[in-house]
Amino acid sequence: MRILLTPLVRALTPTVALVLTCACGSRPAPPSPEASSTVASAFERDIHSFARPDEARVTHVDLRLTVDFATRTLAGTATLTIRRAPGAKSVVLDTRGLTVSGVTSADGASLTVTRGTADPILGQALSIALPDGVTQIVVAYVTAPDAAALQWLAPSQTAGGVHPYLYSQGEAILTRTWIPTQDSPGIRQTYTAHITVPRALRALMSAESLTPDGVEGPAGRTFDFRLTQPVPPYLIALAVGDLAFRPLGPRTGVYAEPSVVDVAASEFAELEQMVVAAEALLGPYRWGRYDVLVMPPSFPFGGMENPRLTFTTPTILARDRSLVSLLAHELAHSWSGNLVTNATWSDFWLNEGVTTYVENRIMEAVYGPRRAEMLRVLERRELLKTIADLGGMDAPDTILHVNLAGRDPDDGATQIPYDKGAALLRVLEQSCGRPQFDAYLRSYMDRHAFQSATTAGFLADVRGRLCTADTADGSSKAGTTQAIRSPEWERTVRLDEWAYKPGLPSNAVVATSEALEAAGAQAHAFAGGTAARALRTQGWSTEEWLHFLAELPPALSPGQLADLDRAFGFTKRGNSEVLFAWLRIAIRQHYQPAMPALEHFLLSQGRRKFVRPLYEDLMGVAWGRPEARHIYARARPLYHAVTTGAVDKILGVGVSEPRKP
Ligand code: BES
Ligand code: ZN
Repeated sequence: MRILLTPLVRALTPTVALVLTCACGSRPAPPSPEASSTVASAFERDIHSFARPDEARVTHVDLRLTVDFATRTLAGTATLTIRRAPGAKSVVLDTRGLTVSGVTSADGASLTVTRGTADPILGQALSIALPDGVTQIVVAYVTAPDAAALQWLAPSQTAGGVHPYLYSQGEAILTRTWIPTQDSPGIRQTYTAHITVPRALRALMSAESLTPDGVEGPAGRTFDFRLTQPVPPYLIALAVGDLAFRPLGPRTGVYAEPSVVDVAASEFAELEQMVVAAEALLGPYRWGRYDVLVMPPSFPFGGMENPRLTFTTPTILARDRSLVSLLAHELAHSWSGNLVTNATWSDFWLNEGVTTYVENRIMEAVYGPRRAEMLRVLERRELLKTIADLGGMDAPDTILHVNLAGRDPDDGATQIPYDKGAALLRVLEQSCGRPQFDAYLRSYMDRHAFQSATTAGFLADVRGRLCTADTADGSSKAGTTQAIRSPEWERTVRLDEWAYKPGLPSNAVVATSEALEAAGAQAHAFAGGTAARALRTQGWSTEEWLHFLAELPPALSPGQLADLDRAFGFTKRGNSEVLFAWLRIAIRQHYQPAMPALEHFLLSQGRRKFVRPLYEDLMGVAWGRPEARHIYARARPLYHAVTTGAVDKILGVGVSEPRKP
């Protein structure tokens, strides 16, 4: 049974509150938003939201929107259900760039709206006076054509080339550019939606589809959706396009444009197995279906864990299933992130670090320990490189609980929360063994399901429960836990150092992989003069190729690069990760023959992880600067705002320039 938090309990310490909110069971019952207490909210304010949820909290969003490709706007209403604390006189919403034409109560009476000052990062608070008894408000609004969450694609930017395409990207604080609601990860909301699109297109959302084929009406085709599990608003997502579907398993499937969907279905054939592996580790999948939508090439992320419908980049389609760890990652978010959510963006590592750990465990379960350990070795290299890039072991941005005061949460989205976060979980796993750790992780998900988590709350929970005798059923009562870990546990694990200090603690577990050592030895042999063709590379996996490229010496002659390229065809690789690694080397060495491929890569996809470093590399060398500007002039209209935002800074593109020409 779920125990509701009373105001008194809310005033207690987070540890006590965590114990009292124990769900004490593993049944996947979706709670009502009323019952989904947010342990953290009373203690940690979200500096990236204007909302004052302790006074008035949005619990449900009902959208009625029309998608207009001609004006690049969504127009309609958001009807918000509000839970009011006694005495609350208003509700404060987050908005950014929305044109709100009016706010009424459910019976149509107009309500007084007060707008705050606009902040470039946070947007604008919208405060609505609530007469006594009003618990529903109807906000009539239109989005801006350049709303940061939305990307409007012309037909030429899609795989099919005939129909336009629209999608939203809410994380971290972009949902407020298309939905006027309380846009904070600690404010969970259920939602319903009624979306009207041009007749030839299909709408999908991160929700159950109630009318899969849509309903024809005078204004177009209308699709209805419902998500009964409460989620933070960054997980409300919409995609509209010419989309086909292929089932993969009983509750899994893939959507993509018709010309891509079969390739995607074969690439993702093991998706159902991954869900089964994740459930074995973390408990039941609580969202019903798990489908994947392959996005057009400009999608700025590798993947986005929208509930029931992960969005992925098409650059994952290597045609040999070699990049599917990305699916394992987004799937893992169905627990870490979507079920147990970071309370604020400073706790982002609780979403991404736990997910990166679980991703590797899913890979191990489905593809074996050899592949998983290779991935961990590559991950550690990335982590050390990120720490160096951020300024070394003392750099403040290498702290897991990152300080985001006055900053965009995006600034904290480095590899640190991912790889240092996962590294902390591996230290915990090692500190008392896998069976104990797995029991703890499972109980953590159950006990905090549909709630948010703070860094302090997580550390307290670990201290109170990890490797104690009764972790497995999560039913420990204060004072009765029998510690089975050694008295030195706290001193060896160094939790506070991991969470609150920069750098990488020296007790991090170092992964090793014989396969990668062998691949590294081949790179060293090449550096020592062995011809590329004489290297032993037969049957190498993507991980081995990536390690080989990373282990090559920093300076290579044009002749050596040509030798590698002739032997292994790097410039023509279809695997986006291998091509990306090779192109970085090519820029570093000014390897001219790879430049057309570089240009093509930058013009054919907009994944920020690939695009940003390549422009950075180009801008780092004198010959590269005009190249970068020349390519970017054509590529910029193809990219999402998330990507142009990053690349504009690198190229010094002024704010006065239009974002989407
Ligand atoms: N939730 C993230 C994407 C994200 C992060 C969106 C921060 C907005 C702000 C997603 O789960 C993710 O981590 N994607 C990675 C791929 C993953 C395999 C590491 C990405 O997009 O590169
Ligand atoms: Zn993630």
